[in-house]
Amino acid sequence: MIHLKSQEEIEILRENNQLVSLTLAEVGRHVRPGVSTLELDRIAEEFIRDHGAEPSFLGYSGYPNTLCTSINEVVVHGIPSAKAILREGDILSVDCGTFMKGFCGDSAYTFAVGEIAPEVAELLRVTKEALYKGVAQAVAGHRIGDIGNAVQEHAESYGYGVVREMVGHGLGRRMHEEPEVPNYGARGRGPLLKKGMVLCIEPMITMGSRYVVFDRDGWGVRAKDGKPAAHFEFAVAITADGPDVLTDFGVIEKALNS
Ligand code: MF3
Ligand code: CO
Repeated sequence: MIHLKSQEEIEILRENNQLVSLTLAEVGRHVRPGVSTLELDRIAEEFIRDHGAEPSFLGYSGYPNTLCTSINEVVVHGIPSAKAILREGDILSVDCGTFMKGFCGDSAYTFAVGEIAPEVAELLRVTKEALYKGVAQAVAGHRIGDIGNAVQEHAESYGYGVVREMVGHGLGRRMHEEPEVPNYGARGRGPLLKKGMVLCIEPMITMGSRYVVFDRDGWGVRAKDGKPAAHFEFAVAITADGPDVLTDFGVIEKALNS
């Protein structure tokens, strides 16, 4: 069942996703060679609790941490570790969720660690562009397939892979609500988009082939060919006036440029 949200509920979802954005900005300030992903996780957990919220990933299906920290070929769900030390030229996808006032926040951003290769920088740019193209389709009267099609067309036009095994989702009182939001699909197909729906659109894009393997820890998902992968995630509400993005990459990018 798809839960449609009132404007009041959308505002609480905005508060949550604003806090996730500020947390990602705080994490981004600490992304540099020599830092472990566990240190970043501690920073995020403290930041979220200091702002009166709970880290929503912690304990979700037994997940052990606040963040998912996925380095290079790890697409998503990398578990933070003291042994995972960032190196110059790495990319780090950070996925973060909050819970406060009965609702969830869930957003992700892929960071460059120091200077990265130009072709990897292009992967980040194109994955973010694919997300924006998906968001532009989050309009009442369109269908879920319009979002996936826009993401897929953009990513594949660069020869990148679109991961199929994980998809976006509805967001509300629970982190994963209906409908599923694939990053691939056909225009005009799938559930109808309605005012009051809140969706997480989250392209997971590989530089090489789209195939992934699952780590033995039961969480990590990595590109089978070992090439880098990027992940950006927005929460977006469908309103009478078009897409209302609840996540704020502006605060993250401001932190990175200061
Ligand atoms: N943010 C992820 C998603 O969008 C969920 C993280 S999995 C968790 O589906 F277990 F860590 F919560
Ligand atoms: Co999500």
